[in-house]
Amino acid sequence: MQIEQIILSLQPNRKSYMRVFNNFNAIKETLTSINEEEATIGFVPTMGALHEGHLSLIKTAYAENDYVIVSIFINPTQFNNREDFDAYPRTVDQDLKLLEQFDNNVLTFIPLVEDIYPNGIVSQHFDYGGIENQMEGKFRPGHFDGVGTVLTSFFTLLKPNNAYFGEKDFQQLQIVKKLVQIQKFDVNIIGCPILREASGLAMSSRNKRLSDSQLQESRLIFKVLKYVKEHFGTKNDNELLQEVQNAFKNNSELTLEYFEIADESTLRPLQKIENNKKYRAFIAAFAGEVRLIDNIALN
Ligand code: PAF
Repeated sequence: MQIEQIILSLQPNRKSYMRVFNNFNAIKETLTSINEEEATIGFVPTMGALHEGHLSLIKTAYAENDYVIVSIFINPTQFNNREDFDAYPRTVDQDLKLLEQFDNNVLTFIPLVEDIYPNGIVSQHFDYGGIENQMEGKFRPGHFDGVGTVLTSFFTLLKPNNAYFGEKDFQQLQIVKKLVQIQKFDVNIIGCPILREASGLAMSSRNKRLSDSQLQESRLIFKVLKYVKEHFGTKNDNELLQEVQNAFKNNSELTLEYFEIADESTLRPLQKIENNKKYRAFIAAFAGEVRLIDNIALN
């Protein structure tokens, strides 16, 4: 049986094709020949519903590696709630269409559940040194165990040299750096800047689920973050928290889940500003059922 599926996309001025692998067995041989070439692999893990943010990660990975592997896998163990998992956008056909703009050095890997979870769909537990207990960890119990478990499988199977993550999920980025230390994976973790819509809303697969009015109102998140950045160090953090809470109370579509100013490396809430430390403001908010997160560097 032909397992590797080659999609030919004939474009007016250039001929390109991308390679899509629908299970680990199918990509194995290609991985072996990449290793024999001693070529480098940049890995961009995704859960699909691709947008410009993902494309920019792929472009960065493409510029820095010989091959790029983009995975599409909606990881069940990182959802702490079944409805959120069920409602997560599934748009593989559109995703593959978007990926056609890249040439055949960009490989798409859509693993089977058994490739990632050969022993059943369960999370491994990780001690990330405490960063897992802040913010997302508090509100989404088990989330980072699920992220650690799926990435452990991917890093083990694909052995990438570099892996690329957006800073929108800043806590996830720190968790992944820690995971690599714990599991002694030989991979560089590279954080990439947040891409935003013209409105300022951080690009996210979940934005596809927003109504027009929710989309319109969601611009508040970045507006508030910019305000906090402007006043960081002049207004005290309690005052800022109060103002942020009021801004959300007055919004018809959004409900604030948390607002936090935290030390960038420990992710612990700010106690007292110290000169040699870096801080970020983080927000999680709901627009109806859709959970949105964002953050901004403050200094
Ligand atoms: O950021 C995501 O989309 C996911 O958490 C990831 C890294 C693909 C793991 O499932």
